[in-house]
Amino acid sequence: MKGDIGVIGLAVMGQNLILNMNDHGYKVVAHNRTAEKVDEFLQGPAKGTNIVGAYSLQELVDKLESPRKIMLMVRAGDVVDSFIDKLVPLLDKGDIIIDGGNTNFPDTNRRVAALKEKGIHFIGSGVSGGEEGARFGPSIMPGGSPEAWPFVKPIFQAISAKTENNEPCCDWVGNDGAGHFVKMVHNGIEYGDMQLITEAYQFMKDGLGMTHDEMQSVFIEWNKTELNSYLVEITSDILGYKDTDGEPLVEKILDTAGQKGTGKWTGINALDMGIPLTLITESVFARCLSSLKDQRVEAEELFGKKESIVEGDKQVWIEALRQALLASKIISYAQGFMLMREASNENGWDLNYGNVALMWRGGCIIRSAFLSNIRDAYDIDPELSFLGSDSYFKGILENSMTAWRKVAAKSMEVGIPMPSMTSALTFLDGYTTARLPANLLQAQRDYFGAHTYERVDKPKGEFFHTNWTGKGGDVSSTTYNS
Ligand code: 6PG
Repeated sequence: MKGDIGVIGLAVMGQNLILNMNDHGYKVVAHNRTAEKVDEFLQGPAKGTNIVGAYSLQELVDKLESPRKIMLMVRAGDVVDSFIDKLVPLLDKGDIIIDGGNTNFPDTNRRVAALKEKGIHFIGSGVSGGEEGARFGPSIMPGGSPEAWPFVKPIFQAISAKTENNEPCCDWVGNDGAGHFVKMVHNGIEYGDMQLITEAYQFMKDGLGMTHDEMQSVFIEWNKTELNSYLVEITSDILGYKDTDGEPLVEKILDTAGQKGTGKWTGINALDMGIPLTLITESVFARCLSSLKDQRVEAEELFGKKESIVEGDKQVWIEALRQALLASKIISYAQGFMLMREASNENGWDLNYGNVALMWRGGCIIRSAFLSNIRDAYDIDPELSFLGSDSYFKGILENSMTAWRKVAAKSMEVGIPMPSMTSALTFLDGYTTARLPANLLQAQRDYFGAHTYERVDKPKGEFFHTNWTGKGGDVSSTTYNS
């Protein structure tokens, strides 16, 4: 009997996905560039299963049922192109290549188009959930050649995580790089969620002077509220974790954050598309700032250490912080969905936002109860332009407003950096202001560069230039918007 699917790349994610597929009754053919890895896998974790090995790409191709489905679980970038180049001459028309790595979506756009010309289908799929998710149920976000989806769907939906109603956290996202785009936004939101949690931790630790056990209890309690999520849950575990000397391990970890690039791509894409994705972008910059460790140490010496003490009833502050975190999280997701909406319109992807929320409901790093509410919001209005306008989320934003402002103002007053929580509030203040000061900005542009402006008392699209000083000319520059 031939194999149902081939997987190339036997690092931990690849191995765990293969074992997961095997658990669901699929016969998987496993290949790795170095043959020893195949042997190690077959004699180790795959021992006693139906998994078979292939020591060359030809052997892999020969061992697969048609149309062949070959999933690459290799490092994103050139390695993917190099495997595609080697596979294509061995494949038949109608065969399917799947990239399950964290690929930047323009690369997937390019690969889908290039392979289509050769009659090969290509799927770029986000896979989230880390090692554990890959093994027992990840969130899977596939996009690319729609003709390939019916062949891959049964396997992917079988191995994916399931919601509490047993719906698979995997569905077709859209054409081209839509799957990898949605995974990129997932990761951007992951950056935002993580940053928001760290800001709450710093407020509790430095501002309220709380111990790690106290903070752990707070996160345990928060996890029973609308904040219920995987990231809040692991934060409580981390805060309670003691090093061998009995001290909290988290305080021994160097405070410089790493990043592999997906959050940065999300911010760059938002800039390209003109979407104010402020919270996620602040989260990326917060990681950049954290990595300037030596400079920060010097600057603290130069400017003096801040006391940062927050006076007042601790319990009242903790609840205010919870509300500020929740409200900021709503803004982050609202911005992420705005970005997806713009990309969907621009690329003709026809994204289903309710389905995206469903795919993120289980298995992935940002999984949370909150995503069910997002799905409900898009069920009510599939074209919702701002998540915060949905009645459930609007209610939370309004109810949290006082506490959120209090936390933001206090952080500024005592000097606790909370870039994401404060930028979220600033965004909402801007978004809910009918008249912003951009009229003055337009006047400045027209003053120094004759860039023209539109008038509130004339139809949109009519442009005016004023000779502000009486010295400049009446000739305006061309009007275009980037
Ligand atoms: C996931 C994660 C994963 C990502 C890590 C590390 O969905 O399982 O998003 O894909 O690689 O979270 O990302 P950074 O190194 O950029 O923090």
